[in-house]
Amino acid sequence: MTSPASPLVATGVSELDLKASESSAPRLGHVRVGLLGCGNVGAALVKLVEQQAPMIEARTGLRLEITRIAVRNLSRGRDVAVPEGLLTRDAHSVVNDPDVDVVVEVIGGIEPARELITEALAAGKPVVSANKELLANVGTELFTAAESHGVDLLCEAAVAGGIPLMRALRESLRGEPIRRVMGIVNGTTNFILTKMTEEGAEYSAALAEAQELGYAERDPTADVEGYDAGAKVAIIASICFGARVVAGDVYHEGISNISAAEIAIAKRLGYVVKLLGIAERDSQTGEIGVRVHPAMVPLHHPLASVRESYNAVFVDSDAAGSLMFYGRGAGGAPTASAVLGDLIDASLNLCQGTHGISGTFTRHPIRAIDETTAEYLLGLDVADQPGVLHAVTGVFARHGVSIRVAEQEGIGPDARLVFITHEAREADLQATVRELRDLDVVRRVGGLLRVISG
Ligand code: HSE
Repeated sequence: MTSPASPLVATGVSELDLKASESSAPRLGHVRVGLLGCGNVGAALVKLVEQQAPMIEARTGLRLEITRIAVRNLSRGRDVAVPEGLLTRDAHSVVNDPDVDVVVEVIGGIEPARELITEALAAGKPVVSANKELLANVGTELFTAAESHGVDLLCEAAVAGGIPLMRALRESLRGEPIRRVMGIVNGTTNFILTKMTEEGAEYSAALAEAQELGYAERDPTADVEGYDAGAKVAIIASICFGARVVAGDVYHEGISNISAAEIAIAKRLGYVVKLLGIAERDSQTGEIGVRVHPAMVPLHHPLASVRESYNAVFVDSDAAGSLMFYGRGAGGAPTASAVLGDLIDASLNLCQGTHGISGTFTRHPIRAIDETTAEYLLGLDVADQPGVLHAVTGVFARHGVSIRVAEQEGIGPDARLVFITHEAREADLQATVRELRDLDVVRRVGGLLRVISG
């Protein structure tokens, strides 16, 4: 914002700036934005601010202007025309520019983003960040810094792109003891699983299609092995439970080990396979469980209907009951929309000399995956001969894992046994799997699928 201070606002807006608004909305001010990064999301934000400026001013009285943009490469072609004078390679100069009131960070990665954001907050400038890697690793440190400097650090775009989830968890549901948040928070894997489920495609063919369409990276590891979803789960758990949870606390299994045959079995039994990110809190012990793994979701559960590259997050709360948030979890425009919502919010707060409350973050014990319980589906390719079922079920029994459903599919060389267990401890199930792998009559142990109760 420009000075001198206006009687309307504590933080200062000039007379000139107040005249700029022709709307009937309260005239708050001219907020100057420093943008760090102008890739996919940054360029989409520049376009959105330009397109929506009149509507934003009419509704809020804010005039947003992007005044400085830091980029890595000045000569690179961009999706949006940016006046050359706005661009610089020196991101620190953007943060420290007295003509920048609010900083938007969309460069990704931990450094220099952490250093730049810390600098901006210390200078009393609100920050909007879309950086999940940063927030999943040092988020609580940055939120605490924002709180101590009395400014906003908002991060709607870091989790589930365009879906308004973080504000709902942080503000709307502040009065709720949230028990569990469970979501499809990676569009690439949801696209791949949808192809495998609906078209019977094998994993490698579905991945190749996702890569052709630009959903999956050339190196798809972060998406398909659950790291991307894990980072989002860490941020969700931190915000929901006021806890210090980092990406390294999240147990993750990906989808690369799942076959079309296992998905078909799940489908026949009334389930659809989804890669779920789960954050839950045990209200008795205070333990927090954070994990990402493929799961069998009953067909009647709302998450089962989330197809293609869409994301959705299902929240179990108390008085509000079950809630589901659905939409585009990635892509330039949806993500920029989330950034813009935060930018307006942070700018309004700045103009009014206030800021939101990030909350406090305390250490909670993290529940080891071995201590979690679930029902499991396990498929085994086996020799088709008398006594095999007896040998196999004996292994389950030795580890105290009770079987709810057992059936044989195929015969002779195609024989496969499929089991669904009653609720069992992960440690017992893993011990069962290890022993089954050593049985002569078991040719292959398939991917393990945890069953989500309806
Ligand atoms: N690669 C992610 C996805 C989007 O496929 O959903 C960015 O987090």
